[in-house]
Amino acid sequence: MANPFTMGVASGEPLPDGVILWTRLAVDPLHPDPARPGGMPPRAMPVRWQLAEDEAFTRIVREGTAQALPAWAHSVHVRVDGLRPGADYFYRFRSGTDLSPVGRTRTADEETATRAVRFAVANCQRYEHGYYTACRHLADERPDVVFQVGDYIYESRQAGSYVRRTDQAGAASTLHAYRNRYARYKTDPDLRAAHAAAPWVTTWDDHEVLDNYRGAGDGSAAFLRRRAAAYQAYYEHLPIRVRPEGGGLRMYRRRTWGRVADFMVLDARQHRTATTLLGAEQESWLMTRLRDTPVRWRILMQPLFFGRRFVPGPPPNLRTDSWDGHQVERDRVVAAAGPAGLVVFSGDVHNAWAGDLKADFLDPASATVGAEFVCSSISSRPPVTDSQAVLGANPHLRFFDGRRGYLSCVASPDELRVAYRGVDYVDRRGAPRVPVAEFVIPGDGVTFGNASSK
Ligand SMILES: [Fe+2]
Repeated sequence: MANPFTMGVASGEPLPDGVILWTRLAVDPLHPDPARPGGMPPRAMPVRWQLAEDEAFTRIVREGTAQALPAWAHSVHVRVDGLRPGADYFYRFRSGTDLSPVGRTRTADEETATRAVRFAVANCQRYEHGYYTACRHLADERPDVVFQVGDYIYESRQAGSYVRRTDQAGAASTLHAYRNRYARYKTDPDLRAAHAAAPWVTTWDDHEVLDNYRGAGDGSAAFLRRRAAAYQAYYEHLPIRVRPEGGGLRMYRRRTWGRVADFMVLDARQHRTATTLLGAEQESWLMTRLRDTPVRWRILMQPLFFGRRFVPGPPPNLRTDSWDGHQVERDRVVAAAGPAGLVVFSGDVHNAWAGDLKADFLDPASATVGAEFVCSSISSRPPVTDSQAVLGANPHLRFFDGRRGYLSCVASPDELRVAYRGVDYVDRRGAPRVPVAEFVIPGDGVTFGNASSK
């Protein structure tokens, strides 16, 4: 049998004492037979795993055997605990005599820590639109943790021109099709490198299931079956802690680094109703956390443009699929953060933006209560945007850039620093990393300024 570690390795969900280690066995990642995902035999397969303090695996601190089950497409999620906080570790898997690549991971800082955390933000990687060069640059930075805020895959078929082709005829709607869509994306070596370089914390947007879906969609059994299949495939291909259950998957959660950064990871899709974006339960969880956290930086990691973005011209001028469709709910979230302010990271729109969060977005003179940093995309093409007109119509929006890229950030008690890194092209490999812009919020502030380059 060929080496089954074709999809690489990953780790995620760092806590001060543990991480999740992930891999999936697949000798033939795009195998066409739904009964044999990844071309694997339909039986449980033992997978050995090791975690070490050094890359040469001379100081192994944990090891064991996990069962890769056909019901979960031979994916493996190993929950490792009892580790030291704020520490680097290295891990690998073995199946028979085949070894996986080595991954580097890192635990979160302990509750009392005040050291800086280095994190990256990425999103929107439509395979057909180009190469994942930005993931390669992100991997080279070896951050403490990577946040992926949605559109890890696109379920739909690309219309029009493409840079790379997926072999899928139409939109994914079955478990097999979703699995093979993830498998196709993971054939990209730069994406695998980014997973092997650092632990990831992910949340989804719409394209992991269906463009612009909300909650239970049309409420039909067919949609709920499709959503359950999509959620299962998401779980099978990412290093997350919680398994899907009853057709749902609990995604909203917080991940904390000491007293420095409280990352609240939101699910902007699953719990939506006609009137709420987060759903009552998630909103109540978020409110409590925002009010009570003693941590300096209250950070929302979520897919959708958060601040007001009025687009001049013919209606619709506000995007109702986003937070602009839920303005009262947005005001409640901002208010709950209080004077310490709120920092929001988002994606979805395939262009980079940054702006102030306002107590009243319609009144430019109202208090600034936080900041939003919108990450563009790893590869997904941007829409045609008259950025000057949008900046002019929204005085709280202060920055735009149209390149593909990611964010490279450092949070410490003294400041939050956000660097936009870009690439000038994705239609071929090898684009150099461009330092697009860098912003900093001082430790006692809520407003960002331009950072002097270091
Ligand atoms: Fe996207």
